[in-house]
Amino acid sequence: MPAALHVSDAAPKKTVSRAKRAPSKDLHLTTEQKRLILNSFVRIEPALDLVAQLFFLKLFRLDPGLRKKFDGPVEMQARKFSAGAKLAMISLGHEDGLAPTLKLLGTRHRQMGIRARHYRTMSRALVWTLERSLDKSFDRDTRDAWTTMLAQFTKVMSG
Ligand code: HEM
Repeated sequence: MPAALHVSDAAPKKTVSRAKRAPSKDLHLTTEQKRLILNSFVRIEPALDLVAQLFFLKLFRLDPGLRKKFDGPVEMQARKFSAGAKLAMISLGHEDGLAPTLKLLGTRHRQMGIRARHYRTMSRALVWTLERSLDKSFDRDTRDAWTTMLAQFTKVMSG
């Protein structure tokens, strides 16, 4: 997503030359993947604060060193998490223009000492949380959609 947060239905065309191909950091999510992500978000939204708290408990269990990077009580972080998650959902409806914002956000995170491995830990914690929160409706395609989105966010923000 560096040039643009690009969401498309189609996989990158194989006929496009390497030089002209979209940058590897573009976000490629199909309409179906966006639908799956939004659907699962709608399911957890009523309990978003609780979901967020579960996420932070898991995150800090996976990497206790991360706790000191977050100021304030977990409830406050949970509220920020909810706001960030809603923003991410809204962003799914926009094809371009998010990359510069995400890059800036990535710079800010780098200044806080957040590295690529932290994004991977965060992604693991989030997928674990979604799995617990959504149970059977977190099927393989939904999981794939989330991991694809998280991988692309990670690339832009930590790249
Ligand atoms: C998908 C990737 C991520 C997104 C979209 C994201 C989004 C955000 C946003 C919107 C803020 C508020 C920005 C501000 O206060 O200026 C924030 C703050 C923060 N983020 Fe992230 N973040 C991501 C990944 C991570 C990761 C992997 C970590 C560490 C494990 C992390 C740790 C933090 C911390 C410590 C803060 C400051 C919280 C505070 O105010 O106490 N973030 N993040």
